[in-house]
Amino acid sequence: MEIIQSPQAYSEVYKKSIEDPEAFWADVASDFQWRKKWDKVFEWDFHKADVKWFLGGKLNITENCLDRHLPHKAKQTAILWESNDPHEPSRHITYQELYDNVCRVGNMLKNQGVKKGDRVCIYMPMIPEVAYAILGCARIGAVHSVVFAGFSAGSLIDRINDSGCKVVLTTDGSYRGDKKIDLKIIVDEALVKCPTVEKTIVCRRTMNPVSMKAGRDLWWHDEIKKVSSDCPAEEMDSEDLLFILYTSGSTGKPKGMVHTCGGYMVYTNYTFRTVFQYQEDQVFWCTADVGWVTGHSYILYGPLSAGATTVIFEGVPSYPDMGRFWHVAEKHRVNIFYTAPTAIRSLEKAPLSFVNNYDLQTVKILGTVGEPINEEAWHWYHEHIGRGLCPIVDTWWQTETGGIMISPIANVTKLKPTFATLPLPGVQPAVMDENGNELTGHGVEGRLTLKFPWPAMARTIYGDHQRFKDTYFSTFPGKYFTGDGCKRDEDGFYRITGRVDDIIIVSGHNMGTAEIESAIDEHSAVCETAVVGFPHDIKGQGVYAYVICYDMPHEEEKLRKEIRDLVSKIIGPIAKPDKIQFVSGLPKTRSGKIMRRILRKVAEGETSNLGDTSTLVDPAVVDEIRNGAL
Ligand code: WTA
Repeated sequence: MEIIQSPQAYSEVYKKSIEDPEAFWADVASDFQWRKKWDKVFEWDFHKADVKWFLGGKLNITENCLDRHLPHKAKQTAILWESNDPHEPSRHITYQELYDNVCRVGNMLKNQGVKKGDRVCIYMPMIPEVAYAILGCARIGAVHSVVFAGFSAGSLIDRINDSGCKVVLTTDGSYRGDKKIDLKIIVDEALVKCPTVEKTIVCRRTMNPVSMKAGRDLWWHDEIKKVSSDCPAEEMDSEDLLFILYTSGSTGKPKGMVHTCGGYMVYTNYTFRTVFQYQEDQVFWCTADVGWVTGHSYILYGPLSAGATTVIFEGVPSYPDMGRFWHVAEKHRVNIFYTAPTAIRSLEKAPLSFVNNYDLQTVKILGTVGEPINEEAWHWYHEHIGRGLCPIVDTWWQTETGGIMISPIANVTKLKPTFATLPLPGVQPAVMDENGNELTGHGVEGRLTLKFPWPAMARTIYGDHQRFKDTYFSTFPGKYFTGDGCKRDEDGFYRITGRVDDIIIVSGHNMGTAEIESAIDEHSAVCETAVVGFPHDIKGQGVYAYVICYDMPHEEEKLRKEIRDLVSKIIGPIAKPDKIQFVSGLPKTRSGKIMRRILRKVAEGETSNLGDTSTLVDPAVVDEIRNGAL
């Protein structure tokens, strides 16, 4: 498969991919090592929310990420690990070492009775072992469910129970900047409520004392000694589960998005090589956490299946100072750098000397993901990190899509700040109006849908296919609804304008407003809550909570702190409300529906033009809310 390298090639390949998707994807997929070739490229029915790719194909994704590179890349660095602590030596893990470690983890899991199809929860910080854990599961056909290690016990419980995990892989603790977090204590707290978990394997990181429950908890360093590095890869069907990854939904319950082996492998590899124009021997750094889809697809599976050197960074951009990213980029001679707009916005506020102290000559391509990037951040990134020379690929995609969907191709697509630009080959967007009509032509704005399947799309929500169908395929029958709004301009370029549902994106992380509301409602003083997003300088969106208490609080600040702590405890610190306004009522229609439009406007600082409030039961409440706005 030739990688697109010119605008003409893009047009030709794109056209071919739409006219004959079968031939196009068969060609892409022929680059991999299959145990048995597929019988049929795809089968789909969006009305039934049913999609399958490379039917009948047999493979193991780790053979494509590891075994096939060994003959010529055994000594090449696969993972470049950089500690949270700038004084701790970095680690260079070769493809051979990665292979050996992945096989050991595979065997370690087998020793605990883990079999193909069993779910394994991975709750670990960004250390090399998290990569061994993920790939070790894939090696033996176990389904990994990685839970971001910044989530609290409550979130961990929901995720472990929803997918019925048998084993949890974790560490004693983790480092994040100047903080040390006792992960094992969180796991212990969670496991009291997780009946399916039989074993926990604990990897040492922070060396803090932990209590080990006899019969349940094992030390990674003990177990790993007992096994060999010979672990034949399990033969998987293309459509066998590779992993489950939870994402927030419009109701309180997170959705376990299911990804399968064949299509996900083909798509993450193809998009990695195409969008970033990856060249042999380059160093690629995606700063996401492996707990999110970006980490799955573009720290691990995409780069490793392409034989790249991928950076795993344990720390945060601001520790020990605001120059850390640039220090690491210089130190490891990073060629491709992929981060989130929220990180750029926070670094942009720091003095330029933090950038100028470092030599970023090796950096050739920049990327962003996770939320719309604002013009100012785009230009700062382009000028100061890219020295005016590097293209920025603004990649739009979702946990559900598995890989990048709409994005410039570096050095191929014309750039337009804040635009994700054009669909990648095989991707067929359709912009819809609110009544379900497709808006064709250029210069339109509406809701973003996809009218044709692509290999890495999620196949279902774990254990709840009906919810999958309702969430993604019912709003616009026959189309996949992304939940995002978009514009298609005169050039046919796409600009993603943000979510149109009850999901807010805080520092690049999806949060369901319903999930935050139900956490706040747990406070004994709280009667009802409504949460909306509001524009936030650094986070993109902040969390604004309107809270009704049984009795108007006397000590507002104290209660605010309690509510913040509670949300942090139930979901995790990332969900903490930035603003909490106590109100006596919420704007509701006669049918009891909260008019969030009004709440959003007030949170945005708009006080005059609130639209029609005549259908509200009690329009007076709007004045109170407006007058008390924070
Ligand atoms: C948003 C992250 C604008 C969007 C890979 C999407 C973006 C949600 C962009 C998915 C972008 C992601 N421009 N918005 N380049 N990339 N989004 O599941 O609202 O964590 O629906 O996947 O992030 O977030 P998720």
